[in-house]
Amino acid sequence: MKVLIIGSGGREHSLAWKVSKSPKVKEIFAIRGNPGINRLGKCVDIDISNIKTITNFAKENKIDLTIVGPETPLVAGIVNKFEEAGLKIFGPSKEAAKLEGSKVFSKEIMKEFGIPTADFKVFENAEKAKRYIKEKGAPLVVKADGLAAGKGVTVAKTVKEALEAIEKIMVEKIFGEAGNKVVVEECLQGEEASYLVISDGERYIPLAPAQDHKAVFDSDKGPNTGGMGAYSPAPIFSPEIEKEVKKKVIEPIIKGMKERGTPFKGILYAGIMITDDGIKTLEFNVRFGDPEAQVILRRLEDDLVDICFDTINGKLPEKLNWDKRTSICVVLTSKGYPEKYEKRGKITGIEEAEKIDDITVFHAGTTIKNGKLVTNGGRVLNVTAMGKDTKEAIKNVYEAVNKIQFEGMHFRKDIGAKALKIL
Ligand code: AMP
Ligand code: GLY
Repeated sequence: MKVLIIGSGGREHSLAWKVSKSPKVKEIFAIRGNPGINRLGKCVDIDISNIKTITNFAKENKIDLTIVGPETPLVAGIVNKFEEAGLKIFGPSKEAAKLEGSKVFSKEIMKEFGIPTADFKVFENAEKAKRYIKEKGAPLVVKADGLAAGKGVTVAKTVKEALEAIEKIMVEKIFGEAGNKVVVEECLQGEEASYLVISDGERYIPLAPAQDHKAVFDSDKGPNTGGMGAYSPAPIFSPEIEKEVKKKVIEPIIKGMKERGTPFKGILYAGIMITDDGIKTLEFNVRFGDPEAQVILRRLEDDLVDICFDTINGKLPEKLNWDKRTSICVVLTSKGYPEKYEKRGKITGIEEAEKIDDITVFHAGTTIKNGKLVTNGGRVLNVTAMGKDTKEAIKNVYEAVNKIQFEGMHFRKDIGAKALKIL
């Protein structure tokens, strides 16, 4: 069987790694992939927004299954195009992917289905939005409607910050069309956690809970990033909270999307804030999280290829099987990320790190220049480890991290520490 992975980050390397464990898979392709994925298969240089060329590539190469990592091609309708061409692809349709592609749509759907979320108002006019912000006062959260590479949300502590966000999004149009509308919402306080499920449009199965660390510095200080590390299981999901999330968020959204005639097939990722007033939904993503995928896939014992086909065919199994151990991922970044950062620093020590038991290093922002592996992005490598418990997993992962070097390498030293506090 031939499997194609769409994307080029650590999430996609972990997808390719998991797919490579399937005895059914003979060949792996990735668009565009990275040097880590290149060791498992063939990387193909096509822009991920070029859906027509990707569809042709899949047809010509008789790809049996395509798995999509990032949201952009999903929101642009890659699944619809593949299905029209009679190709098997894992992910939601364009209509269902709107849950991530439009914050306005997502908030309105939540309201329609009674899913708990922050109070909000939608604006299409900058002056009206600014008037509302002055009336309401800070703190407030301002969100660009469309995709903005994870940069479209401003948690504004002051009215000035909120007004500036409106100016940038709606007037300067720094995110282009994505800023035609904005959501202005109540600022929630609490602990954030992600809950991921896999759905075949009708039923769903929860994935092992994972917790991401968004802030760039230890103790959740500094600006938010795409994710600096993760671990699974995540004890923040007590059985009571998990029950509440399923009942109030997951079940109504799966049911509601089906009733609208736009069933959700694929990975549904609910960003949850656990507040004093119960759980609230911050957002939906329509794909695996990055780095959540890296820790979840390391614990998944079943064949991912089978699960993808079962989802596509509307026949999810009753349950999934998980390694009981803890998995953990530490993201190594270039200095300066998530702002400006340097590229082309030479990377050493990956082989040394992987000599340690159960260590897998996934590539994210790396490339080969003059035969050497160098940095090529903000998030460079994802060091993942297993441990019999969280404490052991933390020890193992940092032992491996210490073997790796590149100029300006930064990482959080407290990944998993929150779990130890809860346990
Ligand atoms: P989103 O893409 O909507 O999840 O927003 C990105 C990040 O902004 C979230 O992970 C939260 O850290 C923060 N955020 C979003 N909405 C709110 C809110 N209503 N109150 C507080 N923080 C928020
Ligand atoms: N780690 C957060 C995300 O993938 O959206």
